[in-house]
Amino acid sequence: MYYNHNIVLVGPMGAGKSTIGRLLAAELGMIFFDSDREIEARCGTNIPWIFDVEGEEGFRQREIQVIDELLQSEEPVLIATGGGAITRKENRDVIGQLSTVVYLHTSVEQQLQRTAKDKNRPLLQNDNPRAILESLFEVRHPLYESSADLIIRTDKQTPKAVVKTIIKKL
Ligand code: S3P
Repeated sequence: MYYNHNIVLVGPMGAGKSTIGRLLAAELGMIFFDSDREIEARCGTNIPWIFDVEGEEGFRQREIQVIDELLQSEEPVLIATGGGAITRKENRDVIGQLSTVVYLHTSVEQQLQRTAKDKNRPLLQNDNPRAILESLFEVRHPLYESSADLIIRTDKQTPKAVVKTIIKKL
């Protein structure tokens, strides 16, 4: 299948955005970007370092810039965004205007399993990652939902099956 429009994956940490994004882009013959990896490549450092030195706000400004730039590409692109990108109006506006938005929805349980011991997620370097994920979900779920053209659960099927479902619904 050929899809002639940008696709943006949104959803919480551990929803499978990068894995599913890579598989979906390969199926559709689209160029894949992971906004976190793109920010790291441009800074020549990792996300914890950016949070340490520039604070979350510094990271968010970089994220806004990268997502906007990638969506202006000449060819349609598929972008897996960081879980917090949805909190910024700039991002909600640009993804709404320039892409099909797919919300990868999953349970906090699944998020915990997928992000356990991951040192590259500064927001989870805390004694109680479950409480953090629950409170982020409460704030962000309505934003993911209202931005989404498609909502797909990722905790009930394998990544390959999720990709098939997305392709059917695009
Ligand atoms: C964040 C999610 C991370 C990354 C950063 C902040 C968030 O991306 O952008 O650590 O605010 O939820 P993933 O969703 O890819 O883990």
